[in-house]
Amino acid sequence: MTTVITYAIYIVDDDQDLRELLQIALENRYQVRAFPAARPAIEAVEKDPPDLVILDIGLPDMSGIDALRTMRERHPDLMVIMVTAFTDVNIAISAMKLGASDYILKPINTEALEVSIQNVLERIRLRKEVQLLQEKYLKENIPCFIGESNAIQDVMQFVDKVAKAADTPVLIVGETGTGKELIASAIHYKSPNFNGPFVTLNCSAIPKDLIESELFGYEKGAFTGAHASGKKGLVEVAANGTLFLDEVGDLSLEAQAKLLRFLEDGEFYRVGGTRKFQIRTRVVSATNKDLDAMIEKDLFRRDLYYRLAVIKVEVPSLNERRDDILPIARHFLAEFSKKHGKVFDRIESTAEAHLKSYQWKGNIRELRNLVERGVLIGTGPTLTLPDVGAGRRLEGVLPAPAVDSGGMAILPDEGIDLEALEDHYIREAFKRAGGNETKAAKLLGLSYYAFRYRRKKLKDLKS
Ligand SMILES: Nc1ncnc2c1ncn2[C@@H]1O[C@H](COP(=O)(O)OP(=O)(O)OP(=O)(O)O)[C@@H](O)[C@H]1O
Ligand SMILES: [Mg+2]
Repeated sequence: MTTVITYAIYIVDDDQDLRELLQIALENRYQVRAFPAARPAIEAVEKDPPDLVILDIGLPDMSGIDALRTMRERHPDLMVIMVTAFTDVNIAISAMKLGASDYILKPINTEALEVSIQNVLERIRLRKEVQLLQEKYLKENIPCFIGESNAIQDVMQFVDKVAKAADTPVLIVGETGTGKELIASAIHYKSPNFNGPFVTLNCSAIPKDLIESELFGYEKGAFTGAHASGKKGLVEVAANGTLFLDEVGDLSLEAQAKLLRFLEDGEFYRVGGTRKFQIRTRVVSATNKDLDAMIEKDLFRRDLYYRLAVIKVEVPSLNERRDDILPIARHFLAEFSKKHGKVFDRIESTAEAHLKSYQWKGNIRELRNLVERGVLIGTGPTLTLPDVGAGRRLEGVLPAPAVDSGGMAILPDEGIDLEALEDHYIREAFKRAGGNETKAAKLLGLSYYAFRYRRKKLKDLKS
């Protein structure tokens, strides 16, 4: 099946005859709208951006150059062909500098205009193709990045921006398990280098004396045990892509010096070699160490830090973005259910309350492990409080029981989850009463019918 793409073109010109002429010439192949002045066209671009604008330079309400600037400020991808009555090359040049795709001179030769339109549309087609390919790569390599909290959305917006600058080094800092590696690969697949290689070097996993040859490779016979034909280093492997230096805080000072040399000019020698190589790759690094403190203690080079951290992305801990806990937990629940052939499809509200109030030290990795363990030990389809390791105890569900002078629990500032509490007590009472509803009702000071009603309501809610 082939999809026919119809391109939308806006014509902006105060010359009515010309507008009509162009409209008639183009409307059988494109979706065309015509505007006599800049402002209504800017508004239309705002509401419903077209693929291409054919924009006159001499307009009644605003110069075409200013209109071009305004339109492209808000829609940097908008393609614009300028139309000018003056054979003034300077105006055309400033239009091109502002991002116009082409310009044509009045009186308009419709054939010349058609050639220019075709060129621009071809560029749009190619751009769309690259976008589709990039989306495919992203989906294949980063199938899910869950982040609903404002804190992580701000980070991801920032990541989208920095990814576009294909050569700028980025340092990602954050506690263990916050998703630094995932963000590093997102930077790669969202960058213009997305179809280049993404190469990871875990700096803590390589012995100190091997790091140089691992990074820069070696020439044949460089050392005993070296492969006879020499070997490419990871820097070379990562050419035109991204080199991800994970746990960069674990690099020895010698390795730091060698890396710094490469970062300064993109040049390096293989170990035992005299050929100078020059490579373009983006270096993304990550650490959960406090590099500032390491710099103070002379364990990390300050000059290297500045080279690596041209852009710094700080990933908030899971405790700082509690709105993400449940969406991420539900995501892992589905993933591990499938992986382990189980049928989990929901999380009990007491277990949810527990997860939400728990102090996560290992962040998302800890949450992931906890959910996987729960799926393995639980029976499903509901992930219960004991499944997530909280047993039948109330820690995490009940806030610390501060009481007032009358002995009544004080409502804590952060509030409580009344429904979770009710659910919990009804289950506890039912269990304690050995499944006898009359006894369970007594334990809670409820009538038999009130107890049954509440128990049924909780069951209904969950079915
Ligand atoms: N926002 C997220 N959505 C879904 N999964 C995530 C998210 N963030 C992290 N993960 C998952 O959590 C786990 C830990 O993430 P990652 O390895 O990227 O952490 P890290 O910050 O590199 O940790 P460390 O400092 O220990 O190396 C991985 O399995 C990752 O896929
Ligand atoms: Mg990591």
